[in-house]
Amino acid sequence: MCGIVGYVGKKKAEPILINGLLRLEYRGYDSAGIATMEKDGIKTIKNKGRVAGLLDIPEISNLEGTMGIAHTRWATHGKPTDINSHPHMDNKKTTAVVHNGIIENYVELKKFLTDNGYEFLSQTDTEVIPNLINYYYEKESGKTENSFLSAMSKAVKDLKGSFAIEVLNQDFKDKMFVIRKDSPLVIGKGDSENYISSDIPAILSFTKDFYLLDDYEFAVLSKDNIDFYDLNLNKVSKSPKNITWDMSAAEKGNFDDFMLKEIYEQPKAIRETIGARVSKDSKIVLDELDFTKEYLESIDRIYIVACGTAMHAGLTVRKILEGFCKIPTEIDIASEFRYRDPLVTKNTLCIFISQSGETADTIAALKLARSKGAKTIAISNVIGSSITNEADYSLYTHAGPEIAVASTKAYTSQITLLAILGMYFAETLGVAKEEVDKLKEEILEIPGKIEDILKDTSKIKTFANRIYQEKNAFYIGRGIDSCVAMEGALKLKEISYIHSESYPAGELKHGSIALIENGVTVVGIMTDPDLTHKTISNLQEVITRGAKTFVVTNQDLENVTFDEVIRVGKVSPYLSPVLSVIPLQLLAYYISKEKGLDVDKPRNLAKSVTVE
Ligand code: AGP
Ligand code: GLU
Repeated sequence: MCGIVGYVGKKKAEPILINGLLRLEYRGYDSAGIATMEKDGIKTIKNKGRVAGLLDIPEISNLEGTMGIAHTRWATHGKPTDINSHPHMDNKKTTAVVHNGIIENYVELKKFLTDNGYEFLSQTDTEVIPNLINYYYEKESGKTENSFLSAMSKAVKDLKGSFAIEVLNQDFKDKMFVIRKDSPLVIGKGDSENYISSDIPAILSFTKDFYLLDDYEFAVLSKDNIDFYDLNLNKVSKSPKNITWDMSAAEKGNFDDFMLKEIYEQPKAIRETIGARVSKDSKIVLDELDFTKEYLESIDRIYIVACGTAMHAGLTVRKILEGFCKIPTEIDIASEFRYRDPLVTKNTLCIFISQSGETADTIAALKLARSKGAKTIAISNVIGSSITNEADYSLYTHAGPEIAVASTKAYTSQITLLAILGMYFAETLGVAKEEVDKLKEEILEIPGKIEDILKDTSKIKTFANRIYQEKNAFYIGRGIDSCVAMEGALKLKEISYIHSESYPAGELKHGSIALIENGVTVVGIMTDPDLTHKTISNLQEVITRGAKTFVVTNQDLENVTFDEVIRVGKVSPYLSPVLSVIPLQLLAYYISKEKGLDVDKPRNLAKSVTVE
């Protein structure tokens, strides 16, 4: 995890690198650093803490170089300290490296290098990289670009784990070297200047033309040129992709935080997800897939595999896949999936959901499914991300960049896309026509119904103000509402640090109700008419024990009183999570604001979790 940026061109590199780091800070923010190529060699400046802290270091104003690399860290090996911050240099101070990922065999590499006279200053795994490159470079016969690349290639072949690496070496005053494996890295092509970044939005204000690197591909960048090589240093030819995202998609605009902006972007995001895929009187269009009725009938089961919020989105489509299509469907947490010997055969369909497309647990699960011969679909928001490169088929949510660490619009657009996928399966199988036709009408109305919820959020804000100092909260619902309860509880704990748990409403009385005492908040979600009266009874049980209740519903509740009731539009339970989650996102947001916390960058978290 972490963000890396690089620049080579005609302008002073330092402000461009800092600007890029600030945009990548959501990926990691415990320390930051920068290295530029100056007339008298490589200069590094780094510190523990946020990127902005670099600007307080007086030496930063001395950096004049027009080429440099930079890093914002989410520590995996070694505490966040000045020394452990990147860039790291080799003992001879000739090679500077920033690294995103983990070197799993760093202990043995460190021993090998120590035995060969190298010394280490930091506790990081990363520090072996510049030293290993230096070790091999010293063994090369000359100091040419080819010999440096050859040294880098030998070093990389020794590395186990995941990495996106940017390298400067003092023998090459106008060239930067990069390579990646299982960690993201994109290259932006400018006019007499070129860029490197962990993601596209961070450098979208400089260029819209991007190259994507495959695993184990090198790039050598100068201001006017970019060369690509495979690991054996054969040249690779690549053409840039033009990205049409609008720059404002990666800016906060008039909002205080990205999270609030992204909550408000949900109507637009869902319109984009639906796109031309759904229209009232024609069949679902999913051109990315070529599934036949025979194929769908041959599927023995579907596994939906993901982490965190993406896994919560996966839970919501089981009702369509099992109810309409009669295909047994299991939802798995990616980090568990591959350790439980799942029953994956060549007739199994595995669907992997990941906003970032870079989540290490999800990628590992996908690789396992492929090795067992299953067909695989990736659902992602990021074009060209690792899971989409790996899967047989890719479906994009098109929600636009999601910057806040707490996922909001990615969740609702994933549910929307999964529902569309479920409808496509049902239509291809020729089942549940009436239900699918109704769902099509409903899905097209969803963006408008979200706009209605967002028109007035004052009741949610007031309730947040009432409970923000509390220590515990419980989220309950039945059926599909229990899936939303899980997501609501996750949102709250992520950004407000209030301990929150979710339960299927009927399960609470089997133990956890012991924790309900005077004043505890219980959030109830009730959107399924068949289950509402049951959840009401469970809410009564907690009210009797002194709980405060916050209810999200689309049902007409009579003769019951709750502390707060937020109404959302009526829609069938297959789609209701897209609406019922919105007040829960806002509740978590306002509580976090009341507590004065950093909503977009909560402690201990990072946007994409690229380590297992
Ligand atoms: C969401 O709010 C979380 N930050 C987290 O659970 C996230 O959804 C999870 O890490 C999966 O990320 P992905 O969708 O990018 O794979
Ligand atoms: N493993 C490296 C470290 O702990 C890099 C972590 C990152 O990707 O930020 O320093």
